[in-house]
Amino acid sequence: MFVAKRALAVSTKAAFPKAISVPKVSASVIQRAGISSGKINKKPLAQTATEAATAAPQGQSISAIVEDHINLRAATQSNLSPTLNKFCLDGKVAVVTGGARGLGRHIAEALCDVRVSALVIFDVLKEHGDEAVAELSQKFDVPIVFKQVDVRDHISVQNAVTETVGQFGKIDVLVNSAGIADSNIPAEGYNIDMFRRLIDINLTGTFVVAQAVGNAMIQQKTKGSMIFIASMSGHIVNYPQQQSCYNASKAGVIMLGKSLAAEWAAHKIRVNTISPGYMDTALNRVPALDAQKVMWNERTPMGRLGNVDELNNLAVFLASDASTYMTGSDLLCDGGYTCW
Ligand SMILES: NC(=O)c1ccc[n+]([C@@H]2O[C@H](COP(=O)([O-])OP(=O)(O)OC[C@H]3O[C@@H](n4cnc5c(N)ncnc54)[C@H](O)[C@@H]3O)[C@@H](O)[C@H]2O)c1
Repeated sequence: MFVAKRALAVSTKAAFPKAISVPKVSASVIQRAGISSGKINKKPLAQTATEAATAAPQGQSISAIVEDHINLRAATQSNLSPTLNKFCLDGKVAVVTGGARGLGRHIAEALCDVRVSALVIFDVLKEHGDEAVAELSQKFDVPIVFKQVDVRDHISVQNAVTETVGQFGKIDVLVNSAGIADSNIPAEGYNIDMFRRLIDINLTGTFVVAQAVGNAMIQQKTKGSMIFIASMSGHIVNYPQQQSCYNASKAGVIMLGKSLAAEWAAHKIRVNTISPGYMDTALNRVPALDAQKVMWNERTPMGRLGNVDELNNLAVFLASDASTYMTGSDLLCDGGYTCW
């Protein structure tokens, strides 16, 4: 397990006020943090605090500087309009499965960008997970943790959820992005073990994680939001590649999302799915798909694959209080592919 936890960031979050009036921030700190022109310095809080401490005027204690930075964050938040404020995830703890790379990795970054309080990545790929934590921790002042988890393994998923709640007190947001694809396998020759494996990861795995996190959310009696990354393949049959199992798995994910949304509305847990079209990720960067990609582009009204970060804002919207009346919805994000 790889943990990057900034002591300063943790204490900042703990002290971060919920209801905010514009707090006092000293001019020197505003200057050091680089927001004199309304722009915020991209450096992590811990780093700016350290620099501020080094450059601190004589007699100013480190605790005063830290306090200034806490106020700085609060001031920044209070400057947002009520509508923009709803997109922020201050105080929320998020888990992203499949967050070590691809769409999940980018969504994880977007959640940090809208100020989630802690982020936990569940993925089988340890090396990629560690890299993601290191990169994100450079950019953001939130605790970010990687847990090596196979979503098929309900015991290790439960352990990871229990650990997360132990570390951060709760889970508010779950993004299920872990998934695999098998393409170009004619149904008549589909190996049954491969078929079962894909269903086990894409559909059963989504349920395994949702059940463990759902139970934590029910126990903690707070609101929660779950987002499952399904696919347009849950709506249409892709052309020309034969991928019956993948398509069926994603149709299952969409209906699982609606079913859980109906069951868990009573517990104030919202469940929505996102159905992407063809996205330019490692999943599709295989030579065997090169010729087919030409066809995919032709069949997409926008004429291109989606960029790897083009689900980010949709995920933020569904995770946040900007979508409090949405549950059981499936949002297509496919460059128009399913229009034709
Ligand atoms: N790329 C696309 O065109 C596209 C389109 C529609 C839907 N999707 C879906 O989006 C999701 C993310 O896809 P991506 O393109 O980012 O793929 P990706 O392969 O880049 O990322 C998937 C991540 O899931 C992880 N994962 C796979 N099996 C796992 C398991 N058993 N346990 C835990 N983690 C596991 C992988 O290690 C990886 O980090 C998938 O569910 C995929 O089906 C992708």
